[in-house]
Amino acid sequence: MRVAAARLVCLVALLGSAACASDAPREVAPSVAAYCGEDAEAVEARIDALLGEMTLDTKLRMMAGSRPGVVGGVWEVPGAPEHGVPGLHMLDGPRGLSAFTDLEGTAFPVGSARGATWDPELERRVGAAMARELRAAGADVLLAPTINILRHPRWGRTQETYGEDVHHLGEMGVAFIEGAQSERVIASAKHYAANSIDDTRFDVNVVVDERALREIYLPHFRRAVTEAQVGSIMSAYNFVNGDHCSESTHLLRDILKGEWGFAGFVESDWLLGTRRTAPAVNAGLDIEMPAGNHFARGRLLAAIDEGAIELETIDEAARRILRAQLCFDLDTDPALRDPARLPMEAHHGLAREVAERAMTLLRNEGGLPLERAGTLAVVGELAARENIGDLGSSNVRAPYVVTALEGIEAAAGGATVVHLSEPLDAEDEAALEAADAVVVVAGLTEDDEGEGGIASGDRESLALPRGQDALIEAVAARSERVVVVLEGSGPMLAPWLEEVEAVLMAWYPGMEGGHAIAAALFGDVNPSGRLPMSWPVAEADLPPFDNESLEVVYDYWHGYRHLERSGVAPAFPFGHGLSYTRFELGAPRLEREVLSGMDDALVVEVEVTNGGEREGVETVQLYVSVPESAVERAPRDLRAFGQVRLEPGASGTVRLEVPARSLAYWGEAGWTLERTGYVAHVGTSALDLPHAAPFRVE
Ligand code: GLC
Repeated sequence: MRVAAARLVCLVALLGSAACASDAPREVAPSVAAYCGEDAEAVEARIDALLGEMTLDTKLRMMAGSRPGVVGGVWEVPGAPEHGVPGLHMLDGPRGLSAFTDLEGTAFPVGSARGATWDPELERRVGAAMARELRAAGADVLLAPTINILRHPRWGRTQETYGEDVHHLGEMGVAFIEGAQSERVIASAKHYAANSIDDTRFDVNVVVDERALREIYLPHFRRAVTEAQVGSIMSAYNFVNGDHCSESTHLLRDILKGEWGFAGFVESDWLLGTRRTAPAVNAGLDIEMPAGNHFARGRLLAAIDEGAIELETIDEAARRILRAQLCFDLDTDPALRDPARLPMEAHHGLAREVAERAMTLLRNEGGLPLERAGTLAVVGELAARENIGDLGSSNVRAPYVVTALEGIEAAAGGATVVHLSEPLDAEDEAALEAADAVVVVAGLTEDDEGEGGIASGDRESLALPRGQDALIEAVAARSERVVVVLEGSGPMLAPWLEEVEAVLMAWYPGMEGGHAIAAALFGDVNPSGRLPMSWPVAEADLPPFDNESLEVVYDYWHGYRHLERSGVAPAFPFGHGLSYTRFELGAPRLEREVLSGMDDALVVEVEVTNGGEREGVETVQLYVSVPESAVERAPRDLRAFGQVRLEPGASGTVRLEVPARSLAYWGEAGWTLERTGYVAHVGTSALDLPHAAPFRVE
C-alpha cells in the first residue's frame, strides 16, 4: 500500500511538472559522477527540481556574463538567488591573480617557465596557490590553464602555455587543474582549440585534418576532462575547418561533450569569442562572456520563438551551469572577497621555488657557477628592468618584482658588482676588460610578445631585438668569461653562442625571478630546468609561422617531431638542460615486454646515479618509436617522463608508465592500437637517448 501511495504522489507531482523526488536512486552518467563526486546523484536531483521551478527567463539569464568590464571586480555570470544559485565569478589567469582586478597577487613564473620544471607536483601546488588568491579576491572560476600546443615560438602567448609536446602539456595541465580545483575553484582549460597564432586570432581559419586534430591539438584537453575533471572549457576565437570554435558542433558536441563526456560548461572567449546566437547555443556553447550580446535574453527568446533553439537545449546548458556551481559547493561555500588574505608570503616563496626550478642551463663551458669574489660586471637593459611578461589578460599586479641586477647584488657576497648601462663607452669597455666575469642580461619583454589586439601580439622574428646580438658580441670581444642570461617566453636565436662561456634561460621568472637567477648563477641552486620546446638554430628550420593569412593549415608536424623528421639539428633539443653535477642513467628495466590491448601499460624503471659533487634533479624522458607502423609516425614521441632528486653519489629509481592507448594513432576506424613492435628510447632530451628497449603490443 505504502509503495502504491508513494507512486500516486509521484504521479501527481509529475503532472505538476515538478521533478518528483522518488525514492528510486537517480541514475547519473559515469562522467557526471566523476565530475561531481559523491554528491552527483543529489546534485542532479536538485537540478531536476530547479529546472522545473525556474522560469525560462531565469535560465537564459545564466547563459551570459553581466559585466562588459571588470576593472576593480570580477567577471560575473548571474545566478538565481531566489533559488539559492550563486552565479559564477571569473578571473584570469595562467600567471596568477589577474591584473584586471584591483588587487595585487603573486606573479608566478609564466607557463613556459613552469613547463621547464617538468614537475607536475610543483605545478599542482601552483594551481592551488593561484586558486586561493582568486577566492580571496571573490572569484570562483580561474581562467586557466592555457594548454594550447606551442606550434611555433613566435606565437605571442608562447609564455602562457607549457610547451610544444602533447604528453608534457597534458601532464602539466592536469596537475594545475587538480591543484586549482582542490581549492574549490573551477578551472577553465583554454583555448579550445588549435589557437596558436595571436595577430589573426579573431579571424583565422585553421584547416587541420582529423588525425592531426586528434593526436596533436586535442589530447591534453581530453586529459583535462577525463583525468582532471576540469570544471569548464573556454572555446577559442579562431575558426577550425570553417566553423568558429563557439559554433563547432564537432569540437563541442561530438568530441568534448559526446565522446569525452564533459559534464561542465563551455564559456566563450571574450567578446569576439561568440559570433551568433542559435548556431552557438546548438553547437554547445553554454555561456557568452563577458556579457550578453548574441546571448542577450531578447535574442535567445527570439531564436526560441522562431524554433531555431529547442527548450531542451536551453535546459541542458542550464544544467551544466548549475552543475558546476553545485558540484563546487559555490552555494554553500561561496568565494568571499577578503583582501586581508592577499598577497600571501608563502606564495612568494613558492614563486621563488618555481623560478629556481625553471632556471634552464643551456650552455656551460666553465663560465658557471660564478665565484663570490673579484669584480662582476652586469650589462644589458633587461638587468635592471622588471620583466614578468605579457600585459594582456595573463598579467598580474605584483607587490614587487626582483630584477636580475637586484638579485645578483643581493647574492654577490664578496664580489663587487658593477652595472654597465648601454651604450657602452670607453670607460665601460675598460671595466669589461678588467672584470673577472661579465653577465649580460638580454632577451624579450612585453614590448616584443604578448596577446593579440590588447598587447604586443606575435613576435616578428626569433632574433633578439634592439641590437642585443651586437651587444653580446661586443662584450664577448672584451671578456674571456661571459655569461648570457636570457629572459623571455622561449627560443631566441643565438648567433654569438660559441663566443660566450655560458647561457642560462631564465624565462619570465616572476616576482622573485632576480633571486632565482642569482641563485643559479652563484650555484646556490643547481639548475634543473629542461626545455619544454625545441630551440632552433634558424627560424627556417621550423614550419612557417604565418600570422597574416586568414587561413592556415596545421599539419601533423612541428617542434622536435618536425626537426627529426626533416633531419635538422636544433641549437638545443626539446628536453635539454645542463646541470652542475653529472647523472648516469642505467639501462631501462621493462616490467613486461609484451602489452595486451588499450588498457595495458608499459612500465619502465630507470636507475639514476648522481656521479658529481652537487645535489641535483634529473628528468628522465622516454620517447617511443614505431619502426614498422602502418602509418607515418614521428621518428619519436615523448610518452613519459619522471624526476629524481639525488645527493652526490646517491642513486635512485625513476618509474615511467606509458599507457598503451597513448601509442594508438587516429585512423579511419578511430583510435587504432597496432599489434606490432615498438621501441622505448630513454634518456635526458629528444636527442640524448642512450638507451633503447624494444617491446610489443600483441
Ligand atoms: C582574452 C583571452 C582569454 C582571457 C579572456 C578574459 O581575450 O583570450 O585567455 O581569459 O580574454 O580576459
